[in-house]
Amino acid sequence: MIALTTPYLWYTTRATGMVALVLFTIVVTLGTLVANRVGGTVVGRFEVNELHRSVSIVAVIFLVMHITTTVIDSYVATGWISVLVPMTSAYRRVGVAVGAVAFDLILAVWLSSLLKVRVKNETWRFIHWFSWLAFSSAILHAYLTGTDAKSGVGLAVVAACAASVFAAALWRYFARPARAAGRTALSPLATAKGPAPTQPRPASPKALSSFPRSEAGTATPTVTSQQASSFPRSQSPRQSKKRR
Ligand code: HEM
Repeated sequence: MIALTTPYLWYTTRATGMVALVLFTIVVTLGTLVANRVGGTVVGRFEVNELHRSVSIVAVIFLVMHITTTVIDSYVATGWISVLVPMTSAYRRVGVAVGAVAFDLILAVWLSSLLKVRVKNETWRFIHWFSWLAFSSAILHAYLTGTDAKSGVGLAVVAACAASVFAAALWRYFARPARAAGRTALSPLATAKGPAPTQPRPASPKALSSFPRSEAGTATPTVTSQQASSFPRSQSPRQSKKRR
């Protein structure tokens, strides 16, 4: 095998590892904002969700660079298998193993999100919970394996990332919104099995014309829950895709 080593590979491993960790901190924090339904008129929930996705792509790119430069640097004996299979690296066996666990979990979360329209929403949601475990493993990995992460500015960055995600986890738990029964990330309205929406959908202009007018001249239809449940559900392009 050709030996390939230069200090620049090592510097790149260290730098991309740190950048990936900071980006995953941002991804998890944004994900918490999405889950806790944060969004207003200036920055809406859709934009927060899109930011969450976009930053996760950039984070994965940095992670791939981090892993690639680690493995191709022949100065340390890691190997491609150690990227996915824990305890197979000759170099810093435990630290790299924890990194591999983080990577496996991130891969599961990422793939399930790419295949979101094909997996059941409960399954996707369950797999998405792995991100907390993945992040904790990444923090431990950085501390156990890193050159910079053990002291000075590097340690401060790792501690700040850990503190931010810990705060996000607490906020996620204590400030979580009461989820409407049957609501899913893909179907903002009640599912076929779920109850009727508590807020009836506005009636069509044709339906409105058949209701009596109030004194102020505005049509004020009262909709019974039975009527509400018979309204056709709006289908977004993603919802209308066939799901298994
Ligand atoms: C979610 C996955 C991962 C994240 C967020 C991550 C992040 C980090 C961070 C922040 C460091 C500390 C850099 C430093 O202090 O210099 C680091 C070090 C390191 N990582 Fe990862 N890593 C991940 C996965 C992996 C995997 C799967 C491998 C195995 C190939 C790996 C190999 C290494 C090595 C060898 C070091 C030590 C570099 C040095 O000598 O300083 N990492 N990683």
